[in-house]
This record gives sequence, C-alpha cells and structure tokens, in this order.
Amino acid sequence: MKNLLRTIFLLRRTKSTFLLPVEMIRWRKRNFTGPLPVIWKRSFIRTTGIPGVVWIETGTYKGETSYFLSRTSKQVITIEPEPTLFRTAKHRLRGESKITVLEGTSEDRFKEAIEISGNEINFFLDGHASGGETYESSTPTPLIYELECIAQSFIYLKKAVIIVDDVRLSKFTVSQQSGYPNLNYLVKWANSNNLDWYFENDMFVAKYQC
Ligand SMILES: C[S@@+](CC[C@H](N)C(=O)[O-])C[C@H]1O[C@@H](n2cnc3c(N)ncnc32)[C@H](O)[C@@H]1O
Repeated sequence: MKNLLRTIFLLRRTKSTFLLPVEMIRWRKRNFTGPLPVIWKRSFIRTTGIPGVVWIETGTYKGETSYFLSRTSKQVITIEPEPTLFRTAKHRLRGESKITVLEGTSEDRFKEAIEISGNEINFFLDGHASGGETYESSTPTPLIYELECIAQSFIYLKKAVIIVDDVRLSKFTVSQQSGYPNLNYLVKWANSNNLDWYFENDMFVAKYQC
C-alpha cells in the first residue's frame, strides 16, 4: 500500500514536471511576475529553509508541498481546516511517518504546532481562502495571527525561517480585498523582531537566529 501511495505521488510529480512548459508560458505571459511554476517554487521553499529541521505549513490543501518538504526534513506539521481537504490529505499521506496533518484553522492549531516543533523551525505560511473547495471564513487569512504567534515564540526559538507565500496579495492596493496585511506590515514585523528579510518569487522570507 505504501508503495502504491509513493507511485501515485511520483506520478503526480511527473505531472508537475510535464506541466512545467505550460506553467512557464503562463509565467512568461505575466512578465515573470507572480508565482513561480510549482515545481521550482517548491524547490525554492525547500532550499530557503534550514536543512533537516521541522517545517510547519499552514494550508495543507492536497498535501503535495507537505510531501515534497518531508523528503528532506525532520518532520512536517501541516494544518488544514476544510474537512474534505483534510480527510483527503490525511488519507494520501497515511503511512508517511514524518508528516502530521492537523485538522482546524491556524487560529485553532498553530500555537500547538509551534509548541511541539522544538527550537528550530521553518514556517511556510500559505493558509488562506483561495476559491474552489478551500476553506473560507470572515477572516480570509490568519497571517497576522500567525506572525504574532511566531514573534511570541522567539523567546525560546534558536533559529527560524519564515516564508509567507503569495505576497502579491499584500500589495497595498489589493490588500483591502484580500485581507492580507500590506507589505509595510510585513517589513515592520520583521524589523521589530530584528530579522533579516527579503522578497523573492512572490514570497516574503524572514530569517531569525538568536
Ligand atoms: C493555497 S492553498 C495551500 C496550498 C498548499 N500549501 C500547497 O503548497 O500545496 C490554501 C489552503 O489554506 C487553507 N486555509 C484557508 N483558511 C485557513 C486558515 N484560517 N487556517 C489554515 N488554513 C487555511 C485552505 O483551505 C487551502 O487548502
């Protein structure tokens, strides 16, 4: 059964590789702005994180990034509030001992995820309503809450990398609709916590070392 699951994942990975030219054409049409083709995006996330430590991902969706990150990390804790997506991811990732899928919103489970992750953590903050079957509530994204929790945990964290996905949604003009904090908020948050930060490939990256 485990082998069958692996095969399905490998086939999906092949599908991502196969779709790369299509995604590259779309990316070219957007003048190389916005999200990278998914296969490159996942590689960027993985190589930006601290090697070999725990990843906390918010917004599991179908568990593909969780699976990808688990190949090279100590553990992946991923949070998904939408019940059908949670069940699907849980089913697909069963037998993956390095992945824990938590059901609930970030507001419900994020603190707990930090508490069980030790003192070196990579964060991939990607939980937000994104249409279709994804979870929607009156707060389109829990990002501000997540950043507050991370700031509180700097008291005992030794090292952390924080990656916020989809920062195009934080551009001042659209953040009112997207519910995302604007870019100034992210920069102020990082500066007030003495973090090194940069924007790259539609992501905000901040690095902490005590
Ligand atoms: C863009 S998708 C995540 C994609 C996934 N990280 C990946 O790389 O394949 C966003 C996910 O966030 C979830 N979500 C929405 N609101 C959330 C919240 N308050 N807390 C955690 N996740 C949330 C949605 O149901 C959806 O599955």
